[in-house]
Amino acid sequence: MQYHYAGKGTPVNVEYADMAKGENGMSIIETVIAGVGSYLPENVVTNQDLAKKIDTSDEWIRSRSGIGERHFAADGETSSDLAAKAAWNALDHAGLKPRDIGLIIVATVTPDKTFPATAVYVQEKLGVPPGIAFDLSAACAGFLYAVNIAHDFIRTGQVEHALVIGAEKLSCFLDWEDRATCVLFGDGAGAVVLSGEDSQTAREPRGILATYLSSDGRLAKHLYADGGPSSTGTVGLVRMNGKEVFRNAVEQISNAVFEVTERAKVSRHEIDWFVPHQANIRIIQSCAKKLELDEDKVVVTIDKHANTSSASIPLALDAGIKDGRVKRGELLVFAALGGGLAWGSTLVRY
Ligand code: UT7
Repeated sequence: MQYHYAGKGTPVNVEYADMAKGENGMSIIETVIAGVGSYLPENVVTNQDLAKKIDTSDEWIRSRSGIGERHFAADGETSSDLAAKAAWNALDHAGLKPRDIGLIIVATVTPDKTFPATAVYVQEKLGVPPGIAFDLSAACAGFLYAVNIAHDFIRTGQVEHALVIGAEKLSCFLDWEDRATCVLFGDGAGAVVLSGEDSQTAREPRGILATYLSSDGRLAKHLYADGGPSSTGTVGLVRMNGKEVFRNAVEQISNAVFEVTERAKVSRHEIDWFVPHQANIRIIQSCAKKLELDEDKVVVTIDKHANTSSASIPLALDAGIKDGRVKRGELLVFAALGGGLAWGSTLVRY
């Protein structure tokens, strides 16, 4: 059974068959990006700052990863603080109020507490009325997993407006003895408001066109935190086999983009913007090359943000929109790979 909206916030059941595009003159619900927002903590830490503390250099970090600086949250500033600020900006951009939101998903590997979900603290901070709120753990691919789930809630008529947030305070589990990982990560949050839109009354066709997700637990050993409530009783620190993750990232991010363009029957050459997870500029460039996408179609923020895991795609999207490059009606593709290993892609007409 699926639904369509009779009016704002009033989902009405209709038979699934009736929902098929064009059939009986019925419309389907598209999931559109109604608003985008982000937040970066105030404290900027440059490569030079790190070089004063550990055995590294600006030259090594820039040439191996593309990172120039990162933001670190203040002591006492939590992932839900970052998430709530990004969410406010996304709500403003969408022209919506907290009372309009029926679903909040926070993708994070750095929750405020082991439980309850960071999403309920965001709900409280924003003043969102009782509704669905939960966290999702899929590391750097978490934002894409969350978008996919929110898309299902929307197109089945369960909620009209959802907040999907990637929020990370990765600085809380960096190993300052391991220079191969501690220089790569930063803190921040990015958010989108996803809304259901009747395809027939929409001014122009837009929304999520295709999604693809996958995970392979056999590769979990290559990227993880070596702690957890049921194992060590500690949070743990980041451990990464950089070369294995790099190799898998180039292969699976490219494959994931091929997959969504095929599913949507869209040519890769129609893509206006590739908005990838920002883990390493060399990964991004290798994927763009495999996908035959010009560099000027790629949104890159790694130099300023470093790797912010689940926050990196919405942070990059927001940067691209706010500086005027990414425009309404353009075809965007998001793609990421990270701990799990887990990866995925989303194709969306913005
Ligand atoms: O978000 C999740 C996804 N994450 C990723 O996709 C990350 C994937 N991996 C990578 O981005 C890269 O593998 C790294 C940036 C982590 C490392 O780059 P690499 O080209 O694979 O370098 P490497 O690990 O092979 O290290 C090369 C050298 C080593 O020295 P020797 O053994 O050749 O003498 C390291 O000890 O660089 C040394 N090194 C450093 N030197 C200065 C490692 N870290 C540093 C450092 N500063 N911070």
